[in-house]
Amino acid sequence: MALERTLSIIKPDAVAKNVIGEIYSRFEKGGLKVVASKMKHLSRSEAEGFYAVHRERPFFGALVEFMISGPVMVQVLEGEGAVSKNRELMGATNPKEAAAGTIRADFADSIDANAVHGSDSLENAAIEIAYFFASTEVFAR
Ligand code: TYD
Repeated sequence: MALERTLSIIKPDAVAKNVIGEIYSRFEKGGLKVVASKMKHLSRSEAEGFYAVHRERPFFGALVEFMISGPVMVQVLEGEGAVSKNRELMGATNPKEAAAGTIRADFADSIDANAVHGSDSLENAAIEIAYFFASTEVFAR
């Protein structure tokens, strides 16, 4: 498998629960390296732009409100097959359906407050990384 980079966000619910370190530990134990990282409180327009693909979905308004409800940790993860590896570590969108031992099974409360975001394709990963980070902020390791 190829070395990839993916965009990860620890959402406001998980930041509020003080589990940033525990989630970073899942990434590291799963073979992913943090190669860029920043804490941000997203503006409404940043959150709307990030989730623009969901603009027509019924949950869009609530999703944006949730994403701006507190600070998030945004990071770039690097590793072999990083996009799918991160999705595997995250678990299903709905924590009730997430496999045991995944981040969402352990830290998420509901489908709308589900602890983490992870890019769903290599193409989207490149777009999402560029949304938050300049190339000089992402470090080769
Ligand atoms: P989606 O891209 O389908 O899931 P994932 O985050 O696993 O890639 O949806 C984006 C976010 O939208 C999801 O993490 C939480 C929110 N969402 C809801 O609040 N309700 C829903 O029914 C769905 C499908 C998503």
